Amino acid sequence: MDAHECMRTRRTIRAYEETPLSRAMIEEIVDCGRLAATAMNNQPWSFVVVQEVAARARLQEILGHAEFLRQAPCCIVIFHREIDFAVEDASAATQNILNAAWAHGLGSCWIAGRGMDYAPRVAELLGAPKDLRLFALVSLGRPAENPQPEKRPLSEQLSWERFSEPSGDL
Ligand SMILES: Cc1cc2nc3c(=O)[nH]c(=O)nc-3n(C[C@H](O)[C@H](O)[C@H](O)COP(=O)(O)O)c2cc1C
Repeated sequence: MDAHECMRTRRTIRAYEETPLSRAMIEEIVDCGRLAATAMNNQPWSFVVVQEVAARARLQEILGHAEFLRQAPCCIVIFHREIDFAVEDASAATQNILNAAWAHGLGSCWIAGRGMDYAPRVAELLGAPKDLRLFALVSLGRPAENPQPEKRPLSEQLSWERFSEPSGDL
């Protein structure tokens, strides 16, 4: 799958086969997060891979939502240092992880982390250093569903040169 097809076809997956994922594949996916665009090359992120059944169950319990975290064989937890552009940087890294997972035939779901009331408890559970903040969690596994959420058309979202009424030409 080339990059264009990957970005066009990726969809959030919340139902997974429970087959475990190889360490090598997970590392390749996280490595794509590591290489994301980042302001001033700050790279303010850190990643924790959680695979143990009990640990994923505990994470889900702390979150109080995202029940599929119990089924997904893997969860990548993304943290960031609190510096300028950290949110943009961590977003780029997280999206790279979603795309890399899809390119490997895996489904994933970006789960909210930053600013959520459970963020400090997730950080404590995973032993995060004091200078790191939770950004997001990404569940990961072989897809067991094929959702097709509706997407707004490009014609509603793209203007050329300046904002204008949608032309309907696209
Ligand atoms: C910042 C952010 C937070 C999200 N948080 C959650 C979440 O907590 N739980 C969840 O099930 N999906 C979450 N999602 C996934 C979105 O619901 C999903 O991306 C959206 O419905 C669009 O579907 P698509 O990814 O298949 O295009 C989140 C996505 C983003 C970008």
